[in-house]
Parts: sequence; structure tokens; C-alpha cells
Amino acid sequence: ALPYDLAGVRVLISAGGTREALDPVRYLGNHSSGKQGYALARVAAQRGAAVTLVSGAVSEPGAPAAVDIVHVDSAVELSREMTARAADSDVIIMAAAVADFRPVGVADAKIKKGAEGPAPIELTTNPDILAGLVRARGADEIGASTVIVGFAAETGDADAGVLDHGRAKLRRKGCDLLVVNAVGEGRAFGTADNAGWLLHADGTETGLPYGSKTLMASRILDEVAALVPDR
Ligand code: C5P
Repeated sequence: ALPYDLAGVRVLISAGGTREALDPVRYLGNHSSGKQGYALARVAAQRGAAVTLVSGAVSEPGAPAAVDIVHVDSAVELSREMTARAADSDVIIMAAAVADFRPVGVADAKIKKGAEGPAPIELTTNPDILAGLVRARGADEIGASTVIVGFAAETGDADAGVLDHGRAKLRRKGCDLLVVNAVGEGRAFGTADNAGWLLHADGTETGLPYGSKTLMASRILDEVAALVPDR
């Protein structure tokens, strides 16, 4: 039986990929399936949490039971929806694959082919939502005890290289927990299984053995539950 250790804990999760519009019919996107974020939402709800899932584009997952879902397209929308709910959350998990850049402007009409070949796409930087949430906590805009979890999909041959990138990212983002996934070799994006490490801000590191995204969600939530202050 699942532990009921998240009873009454308000968990806000982002999942899926963002779509950055170019014109009314085109966008820049990524291959995030949303499976890991949806698995986290489903398992957290089963363990008693009050879950809100802010979902970008996903490929397969059905809506988890007993979870509030908000749908978004772009990183800016995702940022707005996460920020608006952050102060009313005990745990925030950024599992979404957020585009780092977006087109500077969205064309009103479908972009034409043009005689001179492809027109360049000018990009601008999206907000780093995770880093912004950590900053907001530091500025007392959200509760000081809010647990903030980030994800990192790292490519790299040697596991050591992946871990080093993860450690640097944890410091840079300032979150409490970073889930590090090795991408490639049939892992992470789009696949049913996942593997990696859980890095804590205090330096503790836990391996996440290869397994289903549901099992991975359970392991992540074990560590999250231990970080939530007693209620
Ligand atoms: O820097 P990188 O994109 O690898 O960081 C990944 C983590 O940061 C994920 O938790 C992702 O949801 C989050 N992120 C974000 N805003 C961005 C880019 C990434 O919150 N603009």
C-alpha cells in the first residue's frame, strides 16, 4: 500500500513542454511527453496531497484522477500560472521542459516562404521560472518553508559528467532538490522508464535506479515528504 504521507500537502507541479508561437499555425517546441510530471501528480494525489498540475504540451498521459489541471502553451504563460499559485503551495515541482528562448514576435499571419529563402527567426530569452520561484521565496513572496524541486535532463557519456552538470545546476538554480536524468540511451524524454540521481541542497545524493516513471515519482516524493515541515 502507498504511504499516506502527503495528506493535506499542497503540491504544485509543472509538466510537459512549452510551445513558443512563431505565427498562428507554427511553434518552436520540444519532445517532452509529460509522463514524469503526470506520474508525480498521480502518485502525490494517491498519497493524499492536494495537487495542481500546470501542463504544457504532452503526448500520451491521460489526466490523473483527483488532480486540478491548468493547461498552458508558452513559457510565459507557464511562468504566470506557476507564480500565481506559488504562495499557496507547500511543494513546487518544476518537471516541465521549458523553452529557454521564444521568437521575439508572433506574426499575425502565416509566415510566407519568400523568394530569398528562409527568413531568420529572432529569439529572446524566456524567464527562468525555477530560479524565479527560488528568488521569490528568498524575498518572502512565498513561504520560507516551501519545498522547491527542479529537474535536469543532461546529456553526457560518463555518469560522472552528468552528475557534475547536475551539481552545478543545483547551485545555480538554488532549489532544494534536483532530479538529474541522463538523456539518451533510451532514457528520459518520451520513454516509459527513467533513471538518474536526486541531489539535495545539503550535498546528499541518492541514486534513482532504472525503473518506471511511476516508481521514480514515488522515490522523488519520498524525499520531498521528508523535507515538508511537520503540520
Ligand atoms: O537550465 P535547465 O533548463 O536545464 O533547467 C531545468 C530546470 O529548470 C527544470 O526544472 C525546468 O523546469 C526549469 N526551467 C525553468 N525555466 C526555464 C528553463 C528551465 O523553470 N526557462
